Amino acid sequence: MLSPTDRASLLQAAAEARSRAYAPYSDFRVGASLLTDSGQVFTGCNIENASYGLTVCAERTAIFKAVSEGHRSITALAVCLDGGASPCGACRQVVHEFGPGIPVFIGDPDGNLVSETTLDLLLPNAFGPENLKP
Ligand code: THU
Repeated sequence: MLSPTDRASLLQAAAEARSRAYAPYSDFRVGASLLTDSGQVFTGCNIENASYGLTVCAERTAIFKAVSEGHRSITALAVCLDGGASPCGACRQVVHEFGPGIPVFIGDPDGNLVSETTLDLLLPNAFGPENLKP
């Protein structure tokens, strides 16, 4: 369970990451931040490409940064964007791999909390690593 202060810090980190988004094509900027089981925070922004399909979402940028630095256990995720939208399906699947069931905080571009959910609600009956060892 995240304290209100830690939740606010996580949202603030996501809002700051959003300011670094590279989104010249959609003009839709997203920032994400995550907390690891060791208490470290990793952030990410969406990174678009002239070859549109190569775009990477903010959530996956943050997760890939954490995993590539040796952190495989995520305990919370915050995403800041316009309109209170939730993470896309691809990102939900990637979050499940490293943080099944974790709380997900959605914030506005200033880092104010808009809504709170969990990965279990966003991706029920998820396919995960355990399904490969039936
Ligand atoms: N985007 C994210 O970064 N995260 C999401 O969960 C939804 C979509 C980005 C991808 C693209 O750069 C832009 O938002 C519009 O789809």
